[in-house]
Amino acid sequence: MKVLLLGSGAREHALAWRLKQSPQLTALFCAPGNPGTAAHGENLALDPEDLKAVVAAARARAVDLVVVGPEAPLVKGAADALRAAGIAVFGPSAAAACIEGSKAFAKEVMAVAGIPTASHRVFRSASEAEAYARAQGPLVVKADGLAAGKGVVVARSGLEAAEAVRQVAAMGQAASALVLEELLEGEEVSAIALCDGEHYQLFPAAQDHKRIFDGDQGPNTGGMGAYAPAPFLHGRGLDEVGQKVIGPALKEMKRRGTPFVGALFAGLMLTPRGPRVLEFNCRFGDPETQALVMQLDEDLLPLLDAAARGELPARPLRLRAGVSVGVVMAAAGYPQSPRKGDLIEGLAEAEATGARVFQAGTKALAGRLVTAGGRVLTVCGHGATVALAREAAYRACALIRFEGAQYRRDIGARALA
Ligand code: AMP
Ligand code: GLY
Repeated sequence: MKVLLLGSGAREHALAWRLKQSPQLTALFCAPGNPGTAAHGENLALDPEDLKAVVAAARARAVDLVVVGPEAPLVKGAADALRAAGIAVFGPSAAAACIEGSKAFAKEVMAVAGIPTASHRVFRSASEAEAYARAQGPLVVKADGLAAGKGVVVARSGLEAAEAVRQVAAMGQAASALVLEELLEGEEVSAIALCDGEHYQLFPAAQDHKRIFDGDQGPNTGGMGAYAPAPFLHGRGLDEVGQKVIGPALKEMKRRGTPFVGALFAGLMLTPRGPRVLEFNCRFGDPETQALVMQLDEDLLPLLDAAARGELPARPLRLRAGVSVGVVMAAAGYPQSPRKGDLIEGLAEAEATGARVFQAGTKALAGRLVTAGGRVLTVCGHGATVALAREAAYRACALIRFEGAQYRRDIGARALA
């Protein structure tokens, strides 16, 4: 089977690594990919949001399956364009990707499907939102549209909430509608399911670490590390998330005539009153996926292909015992203004320990590897326990060097407590 994978992050490197292990794979193309994916397939220099170019590349190479990593091409209609050209896609249509592309839409789906979530109100006028926020705070202010992780502000007082509305409203297009919602407290976990439009199979729950500094301090980032399984949601609890969140979401999307095919990601807050959905994403999580593919104990390709064709097998995913921990190594200056061009060394030594290093913001330059983005690497270790998996990941991190490298030392620590 010939596969085209869209995206260029550590998530895509991790997916490429697993796809490459499939006996069914005959060719792997990554667009645009990164130096990490180049070790598993052929990188194609094209923009995944240039839908005409994506379809042309898939056609020219007689690709059997396209796997879409990031949300932006999906929201733009990459899956629709490919399906119209007769090519199977693991990823939702633009209409189904609205579950991530519009928070107001996601809320509407949740309301109709009876999915537990924070109570909320949608505002189309910033001044009305501001008045409401000032009176109601604390609450969470969200831009309706895609905002590259910058569209959400958690405000702990009315004053902060009003300020948050002004800040988010200033984002322009993505904030043409604002969602103001109840502030929830609890442990946050990511539940990700493979979906074929009707059926799903859940991965174990993962936990991301969004803040830049240890102890969840400092500004939000794209994610500084993740591990799985997260002990806060497993067994019956995870099954219940399937039954109360993923299943009803799929049923409602199908009822609307826009079935969801791809990875459905529910960001959950585990509140004392049970799990509540904070958001849906229409794709695999980054960095969750790096840890999840390490836990998968079967061929990923037939699963993605089956989901794309509406034939997901009715059995749970086969998983390895133990835990995987992925630590993101970020560039100096991340998240505000990541420095680029620093020499990266020690990857081979790190992988010689048995760890996996997935690349994101890297670039090959005259035979060497240099930093080229905020999140540079995800370094993944596996172990029988979370403590051992952390040791494996951090041992590998210590062998990797680039100027100004920053990473959290407490990835997975909440699972130890
Ligand atoms: P989102 O992009 O909707 O996941 O929001 C980004 C982050 O904001 C989440 O990962 C949470 O940490 C936080 N957040 C979102 N919604 C809420 C909420 N209702 N209560 C508390 N925190 C939230
Ligand atoms: N790790 C959060 C995300 O992928 O959006």
